[in-house]
Amino acid sequence: MNRIFSGIQPTGNLHLGNYLGAIRNWVALQHDYDCIFCIVDLHALTQPQNPDELRQATREVTAAYIAAGIDPECCIIFNQSTISAHAELAWLLGCLTPLGWLNRMTQFKEKAGKQRENAGLGLYAYPVLMAADILLYKATHVPVGEDQKQHVELARDIAGAFNRRYERDFFPLPEPQIFGEATRVMSLRDGTKKMSKSDTSDYSRINMTDDADTIALKIRRAKTDPEPLPDMLSALEQRPEADNLVSIYAALSDMSREAALARFAGANFSTFKEALSGLSVDVLGRIGGEMRRLMADPGHIDRVLRQGAERAAAIAIPVLHEVQDITGLLRP
Ligand code: TYM
Repeated sequence: MNRIFSGIQPTGNLHLGNYLGAIRNWVALQHDYDCIFCIVDLHALTQPQNPDELRQATREVTAAYIAAGIDPECCIIFNQSTISAHAELAWLLGCLTPLGWLNRMTQFKEKAGKQRENAGLGLYAYPVLMAADILLYKATHVPVGEDQKQHVELARDIAGAFNRRYERDFFPLPEPQIFGEATRVMSLRDGTKKMSKSDTSDYSRINMTDDADTIALKIRRAKTDPEPLPDMLSALEQRPEADNLVSIYAALSDMSREAALARFAGANFSTFKEALSGLSVDVLGRIGGEMRRLMADPGHIDRVLRQGAERAAAIAIPVLHEVQDITGLLRP
């Protein structure tokens, strides 16, 4: 069976982009693949984190996976730092990753910004750790939002570099899986910026734990333009905010963008926003409620993570041992 690996950083403010770009697709794929879903807490440490908040956010992402419909009995759910083989494989892969490949990573450039000299080594090496996550399980498919495509392609290149260096077909070359009508959900305040956990304005995103009133208020306040909705997708090209809201509506209602637009062609934004708000509350309200219920029992969440880590280790450790043998590290 083909194997999926994917993950989310526990950095707070899980939002609609994480849901539509990633989690929702995982739910749809979970019975057709052997699935491993990780909470990548080592990746979170590439930015400063408060220790208590990091622990809390790790449980919250776990709760979001389960509340959205990932079944912990069939899928493996665990947090990255419990399997030290991730960090060990990252070192080994880092030794065969050229700096030129890392210098092309757009996310590093965005995150480091003008502070490049002060950016940590962890932030720079982040995509190598991500490659280790995927390759440690010999995953074949990696469902992510569009912003992670470049990183998955790098993991593919690193797998190829390892196979060539040691002249064998050891790692499968992982494929990014990017699908749905909202592969890149944009900020509600600026349709040219990605919706993100770190945006300083909470009005830029819908959080998975927002209550119904907050969701409705954020959608009412979302930036739009004065024109009514058009009847052709091509007419949305120069209207990023309208385009984004239509894509969100389509994704949440499981219809194509064309069909969503046909439903609202000629409508003004107040009508459309009311429908979008009802739909968002329907989908996210249920998940948010379930997350809160799960979060009230941290013991249960920790048990899910412990069991997941045991199952993950059973796959990861033999692969790490094989890599150690192939590369000539003595295991006396
Ligand atoms: P992270 O935590 O930034 O995001 C988690 C997932 O959510 C998707 N996503 C979005 N999709 C659509 N629109 C948006 N605005 C949006 N924002 C985020 C991301 O594409 C991602 O799928 N490096 C990864 C985590 C990671 C990982 C891995 C993923 C670490 N190791 C191995 C896959 C496989 C990240 O930072 O995701």
